[in-house]
Amino acid sequence: MNKGEQLYEGKAKKVYATDDPSLVVVSYKDDATAFNGEKTGTIVGKGVINNRMTNMMMQLLEENGIPTHFVEELSERETVVKHVEIVPLETIIRNVSAGSFAKRYGVEEGIEFAEPTFEFSYKDDDLGDPLLNDDHAFALGLATRAEIDQLRTYTLKVNEVLSEYFRTLGIRLVDFKVEYGRLPDGTIILADEISPDTCRFWDLETGEKLDKDRFRRDLGGVEEAYEEIMNRLESNR
Ligand code: TMP
Repeated sequence: MNKGEQLYEGKAKKVYATDDPSLVVVSYKDDATAFNGEKTGTIVGKGVINNRMTNMMMQLLEENGIPTHFVEELSERETVVKHVEIVPLETIIRNVSAGSFAKRYGVEEGIEFAEPTFEFSYKDDDLGDPLLNDDHAFALGLATRAEIDQLRTYTLKVNEVLSEYFRTLGIRLVDFKVEYGRLPDGTIILADEISPDTCRFWDLETGEKLDKDRFRRDLGGVEEAYEEIMNRLESNR
């Protein structure tokens, strides 16, 4: 697999063409941003961890019936994935109140919900990724009704699989964001990444935060938190 020209550079990853138009290479950076790029920094070793972890999670989800973009890990930081058109919706599940939910509705963090809550935000940096509902997503032509149903069904299943998996590692999956893409025939598959950048992980016993909130909130021990998650994943294989 030959890595070709760079097609795109995002905040945490770069995407390269390959000699096969149906495949691209994703390269994970150590760059970190928060608050829509207002805060920037480096989390040393993050790219390696997020690449490895995402690939492990994508394979686990495939085994559980969720189609994903994963094809092949190329190197520590690089992975071959299927070339998709990203659906511009961030799909978020919350099992426990935290982050923007706690802030928006004026509640404390750590309230366990009776059922997982599903939400969309519109993937648009200029607008600050605003929250939107199904009707808004449909009205804006971001997805069809059938796709919206599919995204919800898949994301709830992702939550079931990941929540159970992380519980066995002594980790509470508080919330997470995933993204999907469309193949040329319109099939929806899971894309992007699943990492401490995109999930909230709290230690089951101590409640310690083991995710990017350590960077967002200047809590210190950022690299150590990413390494702790990776060590638990590796020790479970
Ligand atoms: P929030 O509470 O800030 O809305 O975040 C919900 C989840 O989404 C949390 O697990 C972190 C993740 N997330 C991203 O992956 N990218 C983002 O840009 C933001 C704001 C959150």
